[in-house]
Amino acid sequence: MLDFAIETAHAAGRLLRARVGQRRTLTFKGDIDIATDADLASEALIVAAIRNSYPDHNIVAEEGGGQRTGSPFTWVIDPIDGTTNYAQGFPYFSVSIALLREGQLWAGVVYDPSQDELFAAQRGEGTRLNGRVQVSSCDRLIDALCSTGFPYDRSTVADNNLAEFSRVLPLAREIRRAGSAALELAYVACGRLDAHWEKRLKPWDSAAGALLVREAGGRVSASGGGDWAPDSPDLLASNGHIHEELARALSAES
Ligand code: IPD
Ligand code: CA
Ligand code: CA
Repeated sequence: MLDFAIETAHAAGRLLRARVGQRRTLTFKGDIDIATDADLASEALIVAAIRNSYPDHNIVAEEGGGQRTGSPFTWVIDPIDGTTNYAQGFPYFSVSIALLREGQLWAGVVYDPSQDELFAAQRGEGTRLNGRVQVSSCDRLIDALCSTGFPYDRSTVADNNLAEFSRVLPLAREIRRAGSAALELAYVACGRLDAHWEKRLKPWDSAAGALLVREAGGRVSASGGGDWAPDSPDLLASNGHIHEELARALSAES
């Protein structure tokens, strides 16, 4: 099933690459939360492929193309993670496909069509980007390149990550807000980033990337250090070495 996910993510990525720079049709899901015609086309391609190969599996897809069957297997799909970037032609976005078995992470693929980089993991078998990859060895937050993100409802909810951002900024080497949580998690998995945290994520943003991080030797938890599951909105993923220090900063205990 991992090979199927890889092939399908490549196909969706080809579709996205072919449409980059074309005139977009936008649908507004909120004031700043958009979906483009390309999100819908990418999702339709992925959902059709799953229905064709695994018709009895559950599908959870961001733009609503899912199905509930009662199968132990659930595909969790973000057809474009980083839609705001994609719509602007800013080349940092991804296709994210995760497979859960009985609610547990089983396989995950994050594909970056701009760089033609495909990150893939199967539970217990490590994370691959061409060959096997590992998280970084950085062991002090002050030496760490971290990333984060902010929810679309940031203007109306208190839990909008601004307080956490202000606390971590003076303690880390740098913080990026690149705009695709799935791809940022893939970057933690291969050591380009030392950690990523975010509040109010959806399973399609985080599931595949979280498996990439764990299978590359990193750690995934809630931002305060507690348990994380694929339906948890609050996530801290790191190389493991800086996890406690960052969790303390995020939960204001430092
Ligand atoms: C968003 C991106 C962004 C993150 C948001 C997500 P979308 O997903 O992952 O980096 O900060 O929380 O909703 O809307 O581009 O699929
Ligand atoms: Ca997303
Ligand atoms: Ca999306």
